[in-house]
Amino acid sequence: MDSLAITKAIEDQEWLAPVADGLQKAVETTYAAGGDAGRKVEDALHGVWLGHPLHAVLTDIPLGAWSVAAALDTLEAIGDDKYAAGADAAVGIGLLGALGSAVTGLTDWYRLSGKTTKRLGGAHALINISATALYGASYVMRKRSNRGAGRALALLGFGAVSAGAFLGGMLVYYQKIGVDHSKREELADEFVDVLDWDDLEENTPKRVEANGQPVVLVRQGEKIYALADACAHLGGPLSEGKVCDGGIVCPWHESRFALKDGKVLDGPSTFAQPHYETRVQDGKVQVKYGDPVLEV
Ligand code: FES
Repeated sequence: MDSLAITKAIEDQEWLAPVADGLQKAVETTYAAGGDAGRKVEDALHGVWLGHPLHAVLTDIPLGAWSVAAALDTLEAIGDDKYAAGADAAVGIGLLGALGSAVTGLTDWYRLSGKTTKRLGGAHALINISATALYGASYVMRKRSNRGAGRALALLGFGAVSAGAFLGGMLVYYQKIGVDHSKREELADEFVDVLDWDDLEENTPKRVEANGQPVVLVRQGEKIYALADACAHLGGPLSEGKVCDGGIVCPWHESRFALKDGKVLDGPSTFAQPHYETRVQDGKVQVKYGDPVLEV
């Protein structure tokens, strides 16, 4: 069975829909109850401060630690007790990392609404929670000196976390979750005409095209701001969003980007929005890509 067939099989699991809905609602309610502080915590867990999804960083901890534990468990099982303490420590470190991975992963996932991403993400979460429970039980067995049971539970956990990691990869590489959707490498890097100045209304986002790429313009007094229209989070149309507190809010999941430079003001996007320089010549609004041009 190939990767796409696995994705399809998971997408067809109807029982995952209510489970995913309930879990997403619980996460949403928790953050909403925290008000502004809840929003700040959520943004920190997305990785807005890092400019990169935090979940992707933290998942390396349990995967790395539990891989070490598997190797040390194997050495212990073939007769060398001196590796036992190291294996136990690696299991414990992995459990701490798994906690951070779970919290950040749920924070990213609860904003997703597509059928495939919801169910695939839900399956990814359930498998990894199961893996963590197995490692938790393994840790308890080790502390009770039942080393055989501890190693066996860890082996089962290693199988589960490997399956969970595979689904995580599917979410990134096939569903493009956690990647920059703004297509910044294709943006115009010299001034081009996009609109008549008279056609721009105050504080009303306007979608235009610059060399075939969608751009959103916002006029405030004599100033014109321009950002790439496709939201860096998942490609939502910023031109259908609203202007708010120096930023523009994406209509899909409410990321807010600074009009002046595209900086993330509110997540879930962790990537800044590409921004353009603007000028008016002969009554025409012109834009030019304002960030460093990335080679692909
Ligand atoms: S597409 Fe998700 S916040 Fe814009």
